Amino acid sequence: MFSKEELVIDNLGKIYYAGEQRINALQQIDLKVKTGEFINIIGPSGCGKSTLLRCIAGFEKPTVGRVKVRGSEISGPGIDRMMVFQDFEQLFPWYTVLENIIFALRVARISIDPKKRKKVARYYLKMVGLTRFEDLYPHQLSGGMKQRVAIARALSVQPRILLMDEPFGSLDAITRFSLQKELIRIWKDTGLTIIFVTHNIEEAIILGDRIVILEANPGTIIEIVENTLSRPRSLEAVEFNRIWEQIHTLLGFENREQQESGKSITKLFREERELSFLPHA
Ligand SMILES: Nc1ncnc2c1ncn2[C@@H]1O[C@H](COP(=O)(O)OP(=O)(O)O)[C@@H](O)[C@H]1O
Ligand SMILES: [Mg+2]
Repeated sequence: MFSKEELVIDNLGKIYYAGEQRINALQQIDLKVKTGEFINIIGPSGCGKSTLLRCIAGFEKPTVGRVKVRGSEISGPGIDRMMVFQDFEQLFPWYTVLENIIFALRVARISIDPKKRKKVARYYLKMVGLTRFEDLYPHQLSGGMKQRVAIARALSVQPRILLMDEPFGSLDAITRFSLQKELIRIWKDTGLTIIFVTHNIEEAIILGDRIVILEANPGTIIEIVENTLSRPRSLEAVEFNRIWEQIHTLLGFENREQQESGKSITKLFREERELSFLPHA
């Protein structure tokens, strides 16, 4: 049956077993996402953000509950849900920028005609502003450019849902800012549904229509914050700062001294950044 919701996460739980240890990575996750919505997920390290994205992508099977896309329960990965990771090394190093995208189109069996594939690949490279760089190899690109290629590659197979796991987490502030702006433009142009994981409160408020706040052990949703600020969003807006404070508090940083020193959250985010360089099992 057709569902108005693009994505429904229904009572999802995920338990991992690592030796003797039982890790309650996610518990009772319920979320409904409308077509074309931009959802952010934020929470401390280990609260299950990546696990949730992997369950939606179909890389991971929930222990309980289900993920439904347009009314049907998913049973595995599909090109209707494409993922972009934080890691700069997600491209094939032996392929050029253009070939990386053509490869995805080949695997997804999108257009049989090689000329048409090239045309499609170029269309998406243009969308991310990389037209002039199609013949370069990944090692010749900056981190920001690599993430642009990864986004173009994911978009090229025309998914309905784009899953982004801290894609800008390793970029410098200026590059991050320009990619955020471009992602909003692409999102508006394509009508995609985006689920974007971040641990940067500012980034979540710049991007999302709704911000899902998770806590760890077990990974559960503690709040879903609506963000109706008009775009482009200004960091100076009163409402921006109100939402920032709200999320900051929800994440457990209520102590004024902590807030003023800013140490705790900075440290937490630095640790998370270092941890997220570890390959996911
Ligand atoms: N494949 C796995 N096997 C065992 N434990 C895992 C696995 N993947 C993640 N975990 C554990 O599940 C919890 C959530 O991990 P993850 O989803 O990566 O969190 P986040 O992305 O929010 O940092 C953590 O405690 C992590 O150690
Ligand atoms: Mg993660």
